Amino acid sequence: MATHFYTASSLDGFIATAEHSLDWLLTQDFDENGPMAYPGFIRGVGALAMGASTFEWVMNHEKGRWDYTQPTWVFTHRDLSPPEQGDVRFTQADVRQVHTEMTAAAGGKDLWIVGGGDLAGQFADAGLLDEVWIQYAPVTLGSGAPLLPRRLDLELVDVARNRSFLCGRYRVVGGRDL
Ligand SMILES: NC(=O)c1ccc[n+]([C@@H]2O[C@H](COP(=O)([O-])OP(=O)(O)OC[C@H]3O[C@@H](n4cnc5c(N)ncnc54)[C@H](OP(=O)(O)O)[C@@H]3O)[C@@H](O)[C@H]2O)c1
Repeated sequence: MATHFYTASSLDGFIATAEHSLDWLLTQDFDENGPMAYPGFIRGVGALAMGASTFEWVMNHEKGRWDYTQPTWVFTHRDLSPPEQGDVRFTQADVRQVHTEMTAAAGGKDLWIVGGGDLAGQFADAGLLDEVWIQYAPVTLGSGAPLLPRRLDLELVDVARNRSFLCGRYRVVGGRDL
């Protein structure tokens, strides 16, 4: 069982525009059966965590539909409405406590930190992020929601091309001094 941050990114390290648009991503060519693709990844996942912006994006984009079957912790300070179906738990607890709850719920499967980048960073700060999987789209955005705004050393453990995407899988080694 491991904790993964699995995400797509622009080449310059943004996972959404400042307006939370993913149009630059959703128009790219990607083979769902190719290397490091989502269907294979999600089969190994037993619990999810995401921040409020990511949750709101999913709710807006999917028009209120919630397709995740795994229990999901949504970090927020606000009183957000849950989807009609699915197991969504709003929290402002420390990531260590949430990680323990996620592990207990995941049935031995992996944990997926969906995003954003700072939330993945909070898990990394606590020493609880094992791997970062990134699909780099052939786009630069100039600004936006940051991929992983921390100083970390990572080890490249796998690399692949999936059509338009350069895919990398990294092991988190630890915090990095300048
Ligand atoms: N490219 C991809 O594959 C990909 C993947 C994931 C997400 N995304 C997109 O990237 C963007 C990420 O947005 P974002 O950078 O704003 O990050 P986010 O993590 O989605 O949302 C940040 C918000 O989460 C809440 N939060 C975070 N940590 C918390 C904590 N410890 N306790 C309580 N609340 C906490 C806060 O919201 P409040 O205080 O306002 O409640 C915070 O403003 C979204 O547009 C998302 O759709 C893209």
